[in-house]
Amino acid sequence: MRILSIETSCDETAISVVDALRGKFVVRSHIISSQIPKHVKYGGVVPEVAAREHVKNIIPTLYYALKKSKTKPKQIDLIAVTRGPGLMTSLAVGIQTAVGLAFGWKKPLVGVNHMEGHIYSNWVEHPTTKFPALHLVVSGGHTELVLMTGHGKYRLLGKTRDDAAGEAFDKVAKILNLPYPGGPSIQRAAEKGNPQAVDFPRPMMNAQGFEFSFAGLKTSVLYHVQKMKRVTPRQRADIAASFQQAVVDVLVAKTVRAATQYRVKSVFLAGGVAANKPLREQLAKAIKKELPRALFTIPPFKLCTDNATMIAVAGYFRYRRNGADNWQTLDADPNWELV
Ligand SMILES: Nc1ncnc2c1ncn2[C@@H]1O[C@H](COP(=O)(O)OP(=O)(O)OP(=O)(O)O)[C@@H](O)[C@H]1O
Ligand SMILES: [Mg+2]
Repeated sequence: MRILSIETSCDETAISVVDALRGKFVVRSHIISSQIPKHVKYGGVVPEVAAREHVKNIIPTLYYALKKSKTKPKQIDLIAVTRGPGLMTSLAVGIQTAVGLAFGWKKPLVGVNHMEGHIYSNWVEHPTTKFPALHLVVSGGHTELVLMTGHGKYRLLGKTRDDAAGEAFDKVAKILNLPYPGGPSIQRAAEKGNPQAVDFPRPMMNAQGFEFSFAGLKTSVLYHVQKMKRVTPRQRADIAASFQQAVVDVLVAKTVRAATQYRVKSVFLAGGVAANKPLREQLAKAIKKELPRALFTIPPFKLCTDNATMIAVAGYFRYRRNGADNWQTLDADPNWELV
């Protein structure tokens, strides 16, 4: 089955062509037209700018995705598109394009949850997975521990009460005058810093349950910086490294505890913050030590932040479970929570 997938929930216009072949996924094209340079000067994503950029970029992105994969419309078996969560006007561009193609080419269409896409980014390289699986989904808008007992069967163990981990990275980067997006900037600055230099709090790390909270940590960084007359590059690196370590400590501790309590067979990391190197390394080490028999995987870097390949894979499983959606009624659902 050949799947054309479209993702426009935030600031990336992404289109992929993916083959599902006997339980394996082969990525034929993976095109991302990133808007990051357009949003840098505002220090974050401006919804109106994002929607205009999607309108401008979506057809050229489609052209390259088809060209790179040498795909003719008649070879496509399914169109998958992100329905939500995300920015309403950005989602609408992808959905209307997908609806137009499904109508014109007479193809089945399936609407996909963006967070389910992040979860399924792990299936591209590991198509056979043992359940129950635990997912730590850490992105710009979400921080969740999700227990998955089968395809489409999710249970939310806990989520953030306030800021998402990625949001905290972005906000702390602003405090430190580091460029957007904050995650990669903090990681880069932290490479020259000492993660033990400042003893920032580890919010809710030892609290019962699996909820998170990162707003207080961000405020601690703000107060710490406000007390300083000026921040030298050395101090900036130390603050970035210490903040990053506090986030990683909390995420690792809670994930290991949840994996042990629910005796999972697989542990997956997903979402934009999964690109964070210390998080990848320290979580891998902790899982290996505490749950040596569990499968632990992290998507390759290019599948951590928003992309359409993950939407193709999630779309494939959703289509197999529920069949196609009706193109006449499919619309954006900006607040669609998976669980
Ligand atoms: N190396 C990194 N370290 C830490 N954070 C990172 C890194 N790379 C990206 N991020 C963060 O990941 C986030 C972007 O991830 P993603 O694209 O999945 O989020 P989103 O799509 O905006 O949100 P959501 O998926 O919740 O709707 C940003 O907050 C960014 O700072
Ligand atoms: Mg995302």
